[in-house]
Amino acid sequence: MIVLKLPDEIKKARMSSRIVAEVLDTLRKLVRPGVKTIELNRIAEQITAKRGAKPAFKGYHGYPYALCTSVNEEVVHGMPSERVLQEGDIIGLDYGVYYQDYYGDAAITVPVGKVNEEVRRLMKVTEQSLYDAIAQTTAGNRLGDISAAVQMRAEQAGFSVVRDFVGHGIGKNLHEEPQIPNFGKKGRGVELKVGMIFAIEPMVNMGSYKVKVLPDGWTVVTEDNGFSAHFEHSVAITDNGPDILSKLN
Ligand code: MF3
Ligand code: CO
Repeated sequence: MIVLKLPDEIKKARMSSRIVAEVLDTLRKLVRPGVKTIELNRIAEQITAKRGAKPAFKGYHGYPYALCTSVNEEVVHGMPSERVLQEGDIIGLDYGVYYQDYYGDAAITVPVGKVNEEVRRLMKVTEQSLYDAIAQTTAGNRLGDISAAVQMRAEQAGFSVVRDFVGHGIGKNLHEEPQIPNFGKKGRGVELKVGMIFAIEPMVNMGSYKVKVLPDGWTVVTEDNGFSAHFEHSVAITDNGPDILSKLN
């Protein structure tokens, strides 16, 4: 069952999502060669506490950190550590909070110093695939319209979409129905309705779509070690179309 949210509930989800946006914007500006990923985790926790919110991922199925930091061939769920970021790396920052009964969830991928042109194109296409998907997130459309939009943008550019991880509904729970694959067919799947809130999160690989989980039980990496990018927004469906909750202002 997909839970529909009333305008007041969307307002609350927006407050949570804005805290996420604020954290990601702060982290984005701090990313540079020499920074340790664990330092980014610490700053995310500090801002979240100051806002009176709770990190959503910490303790979720035993995940030990507030932030996910996925570097280069790491796709999602990379864990903050003493790893020092190097010029030419890219880092996916995935963050979620719980605030006044609602969750917010978003992710960005940012370059560390100067990165090569093909990697910049990967990030740009992945972000564009998210915005293509958001443009389809309107009442009367189908879930498959969102999925197909991501897949089309990524594959047209010569990249591949990850199959094994999906976006999701979000609200009083971090993960609600429906699952939102990043591949699919236009016109298929459930009809979208006003009041749904989706965390749409394309994961796009430079090479093969195949991924595996490392022995740490969390870190997802590409099988071919090609770079991967990840962008995510929490988006509400309103009478006026898609409303991106996880953006600043
Ligand atoms: N944005 C990811 C998701 O919605 C992050 C979850 S990490 C976890 O699934 F640690 F919470 F699992
Ligand atoms: Co998510």
